[in-house]
Amino acid sequence: MPSELSPIDKAKFVAARKATEYVKSGMKVGLGSGSTAAWLVQCLGELVRDEGLRMKGVPTSSRTARLAREVGIEVISLDEAKWLDVSIDGTDEYDGNLNLIKGGGGSHLQEKIVATASDRMIVIADVTKKVETLGAFPLPLEVIPFGWQTTKTLIEETLIGMDVLGQTTTLRMNGDAPYISDEGNHILDLHLNRIGNPRQLSLMLNQIPGVVENGLFIDICDIVIVGHGDGLVEVHDINQDQVEKTKFDFLDDGNLFSEDM
Ligand code: 5RP
Repeated sequence: MPSELSPIDKAKFVAARKATEYVKSGMKVGLGSGSTAAWLVQCLGELVRDEGLRMKGVPTSSRTARLAREVGIEVISLDEAKWLDVSIDGTDEYDGNLNLIKGGGGSHLQEKIVATASDRMIVIADVTKKVETLGAFPLPLEVIPFGWQTTKTLIEETLIGMDVLGQTTTLRMNGDAPYISDEGNHILDLHLNRIGNPRQLSLMLNQIPGVVENGLFIDICDIVIVGHGDGLVEVHDINQDQVEKTKFDFLDDGNLFSEDM
């Protein structure tokens, strides 16, 4: 029930709810991963069940695929869809140019492929995800298990020449074992604190043998929809100077109504 949510979950929920306005009947939609994207999938499921929205979803993780099926969304693969009208996903950080760090949930490889295969990418975020400069959140790198320690050394050597403030690299764990992504790979988290030149870093990291994909999304996101705990939603569109604002109000019965500002 939305009215019983914590302020952070209200912020995620209203951002997700606003994003559903960009999904029209007949569309093929990339479905992101993580807790904010889970709200989106639930909101879309409600529209499919109750409002007759016809859409097909391409999930970016096994978790999202499971949830989408549970809520009644028709799930297809990216190869079946070939190209998507829009993809909607969460983020770990976004900056003023709408560049992102993603992969906190370990799904950035599929997320980046899906977002890049979409007419536009919409990011949904609570207000805490906004940063001046990317890098406070550790940058995830998906690496193949074969020779991952050698890959890690090559990454650390590459970081020495880059405009970053930290160079610690850690293998993501799941309990006592290395975390395994949906593609069967490991994740290295790069604790960089500040990334001076995200575009250059992204290009350099992806050239290292063994690195499959990094979590920097440069020039991929078109719109960031930012939710606040009081129901305020801001839409930052890379092609518009003005920020659009909407206020959602939580009613006692758990329903929402919105008012453009
Ligand atoms: C998963 C992601 C998520 O979008 C990111 O971690 C944000 O998650 P949340 O919405 O739970 O804060 O990139 O790989």
